[in-house]
Amino acid sequence: MIKPNKLVKKDFLSSLDMSTEEVNHIIELAKNLKNNHINIDYKKKVLGLIFDKSSTRTRVSFQVAMSRLGGTTIDLNPTTSQIGRGEPIKDTARVLSRYCDVIAIRTFNHSDLEEYAKWSTKPVINALTDLEHPCQALADFLTIKEEFIDFKNVILTFIGDGNNVANSLILCGALLGVEVRVACPRGYEPNPILIERARKIYKNDNLLKIMHDPDSAVRGANVLYTDVWSSMGEESKKEEKDKDFNGFTIDNDLVNKANKDAIILHCLPAYRNKEIIDAVIESDKSRIFDQAENRLHAQQALLACMFK
Ligand code: CP
Ligand code: NVA
Repeated sequence: MIKPNKLVKKDFLSSLDMSTEEVNHIIELAKNLKNNHINIDYKKKVLGLIFDKSSTRTRVSFQVAMSRLGGTTIDLNPTTSQIGRGEPIKDTARVLSRYCDVIAIRTFNHSDLEEYAKWSTKPVINALTDLEHPCQALADFLTIKEEFIDFKNVILTFIGDGNNVANSLILCGALLGVEVRVACPRGYEPNPILIERARKIYKNDNLLKIMHDPDSAVRGANVLYTDVWSSMGEESKKEEKDKDFNGFTIDNDLVNKANKDAIILHCLPAYRNKEIIDAVIESDKSRIFDQAENRLHAQQALLACMFK
């Protein structure tokens, strides 16, 4: 029977903080937890949650995951804790390390997350920064594995902004050897440093493609994925980005150009009829709500591998 193996690195700040074996282990463990094949008990463990941005899925799935592990969570609201007053991260991190067993943080600057991890003696999890969303990628590849059983021959096309979600998909895809194509307007490519890191991991250079034409990017693809065009913190750019992303909507026409077996993913929340039309979200190709459910199972597995 599968048992949680402790992760080598203390923190999970980036998809690249795990090895290929570790990502595969988390996915297998998550599948077993989802199907009630195993029961893991971490009574009395406490997860601290710091969310500088809004969240439904990440916050609730972490809370439920901890409760299923027998532990509890403390939701540290930045506005009612001293975080909002501007207490230095190095002080908050050292104090919370003495109360909590693990801390999940959603914030803007990735460097702030790294600062928390530097000063925290307990594991720190990236619950989304402007640069990466690695917990989302774990749930996404769990969803893809459930559908296609094997990652071999899967082509994942992300259509939209080269944002945090795209960055983590690229990195996790590289670890798993999945072909990832990103189709974005010029000027909205994923982070160039992370693209370089991903290319170094892929054994075959052709498995990561940054493209600008959605039609050719979806040809032969088994997974079509999109996310909002303007992320949290980019509210002032919305109008400009809406114009720049004209032609990058996932609609029925685009879906019909992909492989016959293609499934549709979106990390949610969506702006329906902007990056994806309502009918595609509701179509029988959509696995969007399974994907959202999988946040819970993937994060329960992740936590189990951090406490061991
Ligand atoms: N996908 C995701 O992270 O959703 P929330 O912003 O609701 O947590
Ligand atoms: N790219 C989006 C993801 C939300 C889950 C954002 O950062 O707002």
